[in-house]
Amino acid sequence: MYTVRKVTDDLYYVGGNDHRLELFENIFPIPEGVTYNSYLLKDEKNVLFDTVDWSIVKDYLENISEVLDGEDLDYLVIHHLEPDHAAAIDEIVLRYPDVKVIASEQGFEFMRQYGFHVNEEQSMIVAEGDTISFGKHNFVFLEAPMVHWPEVLVSFDTTDGVLFAADAFGTFGTLDGKLFADEVNFERDWLDSARRYLTNIVGKYGPFVQDVLKKASTVDIKIICPLHGPVWRENLGWFIDKYDKWSRYEPEEEGVMIVYASMYGNTERAAQALASRLCDKGMTNVVVHDVSNTHMSYLIADTFKYSHIVIASVTYNLGIYPVMKNFLMDLEALNVQNRTVAIIENGTWACTVGDKIEEYIDENLKMFDVLPERVTLNSALNKANENDMEALADSIIESMAKIREIKEKSANQ
Ligand code: FEO
Repeated sequence: MYTVRKVTDDLYYVGGNDHRLELFENIFPIPEGVTYNSYLLKDEKNVLFDTVDWSIVKDYLENISEVLDGEDLDYLVIHHLEPDHAAAIDEIVLRYPDVKVIASEQGFEFMRQYGFHVNEEQSMIVAEGDTISFGKHNFVFLEAPMVHWPEVLVSFDTTDGVLFAADAFGTFGTLDGKLFADEVNFERDWLDSARRYLTNIVGKYGPFVQDVLKKASTVDIKIICPLHGPVWRENLGWFIDKYDKWSRYEPEEEGVMIVYASMYGNTERAAQALASRLCDKGMTNVVVHDVSNTHMSYLIADTFKYSHIVIASVTYNLGIYPVMKNFLMDLEALNVQNRTVAIIENGTWACTVGDKIEEYIDENLKMFDVLPERVTLNSALNKANENDMEALADSIIESMAKIREIKEKSANQ
């Protein structure tokens, strides 16, 4: 059975779903699965856009053969060399020996490094602004370095307004028969996965994503075909706006992520006490995560989502609890910026962790504003902390109002 679907009259989806992979890139848990997208254009020349991960090659080759229906394949465009998309290059070249492979110069360099067998006669290098006509469809190729690797290209079909976006606009999650974002409830069921995918995988390279968005804004895009997740043909502006915010490190929502490190539940209780106070005061857009049992990718995604982060941590070896330190280091590695932070610290005899967290933030994170109000616990939350807890909740809410005011002012200017 084939799992082909039509994107347009002559463009076919020939990729597939992976429900079996537990860790994407052997790091990120994907209980929602993932797709590896590939597209086949039937024009005067038949053109295949990218390949797939090795795990679904058999179905993929059957899909291609079904769509070609005895015709030959003329071109294989490789937008991105990462093996979740490039694994089947040799299989394609072996089955269709007359195929010409189109990629960036660095793409071909990576092909050689990975040991793919594409000879010089089969290779066609394209660079920024190059155009190719495959018949009715005319394409322009654009470089998209660091979205997500340096060799990445995106291409645009100027005839039908289709953007082949490589990893951009992708998401975790399996399609299971659906193809288009308008065939699912994307905001309810997919947005969290899209945010977790983008922020963890390309989060570090926000300025490069911004470059692609700038290039994309100069053409009339009607359809976006990413390498993972659904194809976009409606409401493109809504999703592009999400990408714009994530890549500018602008919080998506006014809200609070409380992340706590707690050994015996006392710091956890303080985190929950703050959550209750915030909700009591009307700020109910609050999530609470245990740093020790929440995969870092979910914490990073929520850091990109919410405007305020509360870090609640025990002191450990006179410093920051190791898992919380990892979280801070990940924020730095992914270049997260422009957040307001509040601190709850705990220590039974030498409570140093609050100062250490603040020091780490000051030295390593850009445009992070640490609120001066801090709650200090000596082992456990007690009556003596009540005023400080109240002040911290008020301070978070006041800072939201201030940020809102500044935004409104700049929007009116
Ligand atoms: Fe989906 Fe960067 O590969």
